[in-house]
Amino acid sequence: MKVEIGFGGGEYLSWWAGQEPENHFMGIELPPDCLFRAAILLQKEQREQVRLVQGDARYLLHALFAPGSLDHVLMQFPMPWPKDKHAKHRVSSPNFVATLASVLKPQGIFELVTDQDWYAEECHRHFQAHEAFVVRTMEQDPERPFRTRYEQKWLEEGRHIYRLVVQLLHPEPTPSRLAIEPMEHLRLPQAPDSDALNALIGQTWKEGDCAAEVKTLFAADNGWLLRVVASDEAFAQMFHLRIRKSDEQRWLVQVDGLPRPYYTEAVRFLQHKVAAELSA
Ligand SMILES: C[S@@+](CC[C@H](N)C(=O)[O-])C[C@H]1O[C@@H](n2cnc3c(N)ncnc32)[C@H](O)[C@@H]1O
Repeated sequence: MKVEIGFGGGEYLSWWAGQEPENHFMGIELPPDCLFRAAILLQKEQREQVRLVQGDARYLLHALFAPGSLDHVLMQFPMPWPKDKHAKHRVSSPNFVATLASVLKPQGIFELVTDQDWYAEECHRHFQAHEAFVVRTMEQDPERPFRTRYEQKWLEEGRHIYRLVVQLLHPEPTPSRLAIEPMEHLRLPQAPDSDALNALIGQTWKEGDCAAEVKTLFAADNGWLLRVVASDEAFAQMFHLRIRKSDEQRWLVQVDGLPRPYYTEAVRFLQHKVAAELSA
């Protein structure tokens, strides 16, 4: 299986799949518009071995693929996020390198093409520092058989292109941060009072990679719903915490199923923070 992250309009992905009809491909993109455009192109060009999925590849790679299962992961012209405060969004982060070390096959390839020299160098350093990877290529202005839309644009503007190819020597499986493990319901010592509930609105907490925020409070059957956001690094999920009285007359704080979030560390962190505030 080969994967392109951030395929844009899907032109390269379709060309790549056309070169290797015996292989299976997956494209991962964030905006739904890109998926619609690429799906139309792939259908027109009859690339039946390609699947598209919408979401953030830094998390989906782990959630969708078994350890040691990918032959090649390609990313071309990702947003470089140049400001330090946005560094966590970069695919060059050490967490992403660890994800690749988990999901690539032995001898599997990660390939990055970018117009930003500092970004290519930063990625280069992260992979060099990881003992499971070996750098195969780091080149400027490579000859490429197919140029992406952004590549054509940057070349017309006279920019240089950088290509980094690294190979995984031995996989290092790590557990997915999106693994679905059961969430417990947290018990409150008494019925929460309305002042304590209202005081939660707008509260934020942060610890390590986890951030949590309470947006709104609603009255709901048998209790309340809190609309909340839990973020593991840049992976933010909006969902509801339900505060309700159980059949056994106990007050509980539980994650509501609509919409059901991935049960990440930040989701657990948020649930514990809310329960602690309401227990004080
Ligand atoms: C500058 S565009 C390049 C598009 C195409 N690769 C090209 O070269 O023409 C970068 C694309 O990467 C996508 N992208 C950035 N970060 C992503 C992530 N974490 N997961 C999936 N897609 C991502 C963006 O949505 C955007 O469409």
